[in-house]
Amino acid sequence: MPTILVVDDELSMREFLQILLEKEGFTVLTASDGVKALELAKKETINLLISDIKMPGLGGLALLEQIKEIDASIPVIMITAYASPEDAVLAMKNGAYDYITKPFKVDEIKNIISTSLAKTFTSQTQKTEESQKIEGIIGESLQMMKIFDMIKRIAPTHANVLITGESGTGKELVARAIHNHSTVADQPFVPITCSAIPENLIESELFGHVKGSFTGAITNKKGLFELADNGSVFLDEIGELTPLIQTKLLRVLQEREFKHVGGTETIKVNVRIISATNKDLEAEVMAGRFREDLYYRLAVVPIRVPPLRERKNDVALLVKYFLKKYSEIFNKDIKGLSSYGLKILLDYDFPGNVRELENIIERGVALENSNIILPDSLALAAHRRSENQQISLHGLGDEDAVYEQGLDEIIAQTEKRLIEKALAKADYSKMRAAELLKISFRSLRYKVQKYNIT
Ligand SMILES: Nc1ncnc2c1ncn2[C@@H]1O[C@H](COP(=O)(O)OP(=O)(O)OP(=O)(O)O)[C@@H](O)[C@H]1O
Ligand SMILES: [Mg+2]
Repeated sequence: MPTILVVDDELSMREFLQILLEKEGFTVLTASDGVKALELAKKETINLLISDIKMPGLGGLALLEQIKEIDASIPVIMITAYASPEDAVLAMKNGAYDYITKPFKVDEIKNIISTSLAKTFTSQTQKTEESQKIEGIIGESLQMMKIFDMIKRIAPTHANVLITGESGTGKELVARAIHNHSTVADQPFVPITCSAIPENLIESELFGHVKGSFTGAITNKKGLFELADNGSVFLDEIGELTPLIQTKLLRVLQEREFKHVGGTETIKVNVRIISATNKDLEAEVMAGRFREDLYYRLAVVPIRVPPLRERKNDVALLVKYFLKKYSEIFNKDIKGLSSYGLKILLDYDFPGNVRELENIIERGVALENSNIILPDSLALAAHRRSENQQISLHGLGDEDAVYEQGLDEIIAQTEKRLIEKALAKADYSKMRAAELLKISFRSLRYKVQKYNIT
């Protein structure tokens, strides 16, 4: 049986945990402060450490740091006071496996202990490539590997998670993956887009209402927090919450209970909150637009999903994945992307991130008549935002493209694009466009027909 070291300056707490855990069959060692705990940890084999944060002498956070130096694989569970969520944030940041807040329920601590021991025992044995992957999230860049690892590490904990990242980076996928890898995967995952609901309705959406509490409340209605009981609530676009709702949400997080709008009954729920935003929430806090205390409650585990341009290593794999997806949907036999097509994509900065790449490939598959996606089918999609780039890509430097498609084709593509640009600049007057290009009107008219420019 695993050995658990319990560290707390309060005798009653040590005794309580010792009795509880010995009943479960664990071997339990206790220490009344950080220094004594370290001495024990150097002598004995410890499989799990449970430590209070606030202790005289060497405190819990310092103990956490030093124990990690002795043996980084020992999972550490911190006991924090409910009044100070900053401690939980710090502990998770410094590598604590999970935390429990005082006062806690016996079942809660039993669950946390069994998942942390199960997790670490298995993760020590199977650190293979395969276990790095997360179903439904495609990526092979170092940044995504770290995120996969993080998802697996924190999913079974009880910590609230804040996911940040630009639009289209996959925040919702990450949120769902956290829920699916948690111990409550069979319980509901309830998403809500905060910005989509008017302020006067959001409270009732979240916490429910009783019949007649306001105009339109024609029946009793359960809120999303109740529907998500024992599962996870996904608060998307959390940065859009108004100050009033921020305050209400904070109160619910602090008290872990609420009342229906217009109701008197107190309702207790047990939900994990996963939130997401494409805003820089720390900056919002600094600017006074987002409550700092709420931020700490939500961002116990912060996860930043990097924009696609910072992880170009993922582009090829994503392209392959989306090509397969849309070939099936459009019932086409697309074998792949031309190497020059991939080069265009690798040079592109994807302001719309993975969502934009997906759209580009979808359109490419829809437009392509051959069985390989040629740059033209891609260009049409990427064209709008990076016209200049397209032209320079078709310039003299790109010999690979020439060898692939032939000189005539490249010259024709380049000529066509330059004419389109000149026409746009000339407000679609062929006369003025011809002047800009220093060619005759007749020659321009001929080329416009030839390239089918409309
Ligand atoms: N790594 C990925 N693998 C596969 N599909 C992805 C990946 N990242 C994003 N997508 C796809 O891109 C689209 C956008 O992803 P998602 O909705 O999760 O982004 P988001 O960060 O929540 O964006 P927004 O801030 O605009 O809501 C979805 O269709 C999703 O399936
Ligand atoms: Mg989203």
